[in-house]
Amino acid sequence: MLNFDFHNPTRIAFGQGRIADLATLVPASAKVLILVGGSSAEKTGTLAEVRAALGQREHATFSGIEPNPTYETAMQAVEQIRAGGFDFLLAVGGGSVIDAVKFIAAAVPFADGDPWAILEQRGRNISRALAFGTVLTLPATGSEMNNGAVITRKALGAKLVFGSVHCYPLFSVLDPTKTYTLPAQQLANGVVDAFVHTVEQYLTYPVEARVQDRWAEGVLHTLIEVGPRLLSAPEPVYDDRANLVWAATMALNGLIGAGVPQDWATHMIGHELTAKFQIDHARTLAIVLPALLQECRQAKREKLLQYAERIWGLGASTGTEEQRIDAAIACTRDFFEGLGIATRLSAYGVGEEAIDGLVAQLQAHGMVKLGERRAVTPEVSRRILQAAL
Ligand code: NZQ
Ligand code: ZN
Repeated sequence: MLNFDFHNPTRIAFGQGRIADLATLVPASAKVLILVGGSSAEKTGTLAEVRAALGQREHATFSGIEPNPTYETAMQAVEQIRAGGFDFLLAVGGGSVIDAVKFIAAAVPFADGDPWAILEQRGRNISRALAFGTVLTLPATGSEMNNGAVITRKALGAKLVFGSVHCYPLFSVLDPTKTYTLPAQQLANGVVDAFVHTVEQYLTYPVEARVQDRWAEGVLHTLIEVGPRLLSAPEPVYDDRANLVWAATMALNGLIGAGVPQDWATHMIGHELTAKFQIDHARTLAIVLPALLQECRQAKREKLLQYAERIWGLGASTGTEEQRIDAAIACTRDFFEGLGIATRLSAYGVGEEAIDGLVAQLQAHGMVKLGERRAVTPEVSRRILQAAL
């Protein structure tokens, strides 16, 4: 097992009705800015519930954070916070709203010029941030219990990641009933995003991290079990929703990734697809992952065989090593397709002519040595994209 530090300070308030707990979770004297996305929080009644739970606290609302949140919109919130003297931020939404709030929380006190520098330096230049909490309405990203965020700058066509110890939420309210209003497409996205987060930290090379491996396998099994049911159920089933929410949080709160090598090449290549073609984040992952596993099958050989056996039941008796790896990759693709998520670039109208530009974007963003062994060079990324056509 590799050396690691593990410290996750985010308090989780899990379960039906827990929004009421904002009454005690938010500091009593806080002047609160609630931040939301488009119209979902208002329409579903969640925003009204949040406001009621804040009681007498002074508060206002900033709305309009878009999916794949932009620097441009976030900076409008920064201005409102500086002008209004808000000292506590409350994100109500999915990964996009939470990510934007992490950036905004760091940008408000940022004294070193344009806060875009936070993205350029991947968050290393953050020395403090406003306190914030979250109310999660879309289980997928794990942003509710980690310190990372992804921000797009429209003007530059760049979608970049940052992280900082100052950007953990103080608390996150996880009420599974808040997922009941999600369209099927977003539910499927959530399952795939959580699945790929787990794979990025599991499907690398073995380091005898048995607990982490089995936690990761537990998350994958849970997603495979509840994922299809979530989409076919005529009415939402509380426990299936609860398991999705907790699986997605556990997939990216640092626990399964402690002491193990991590890949993240699928994500970095996927971010370029979103920046260029606005394909939903999870869908980019479903496109890239099967092609990446094929391309990296030698480097990932031992873990691919473990994945084949423990996740898909493809033990030694089911074929040669090569056959089992092929079958495990096929099962992964079928799982995504079965959730209604296409796994080929061509299904999104993206053809071979796009590949040069995507590889150039990866290079421009310094994404030239990706993967657990930093072996995914632009040439390897090119082959992955070609295999994903
Ligand atoms: O904008 P509104 O009207 O609120 O609608 C949203 C949005 O259109 C809707 N929605 C959210 N909750 C709902 C709901 N609709 C009905 N009922 C509800 N309860 O869903 C749409 C998508 O929301 P979004 O927040 O964009 O989705 P998601 O949670 O998948 O977040 C995606 C973003 O997170 C980043 C992605 O790159 C992408 O920008 N990621 C963040 C990570 C992190 N911080 O750790 C890791 C991930 O790998 C990911 O990169
Ligand atoms: Zn993701």
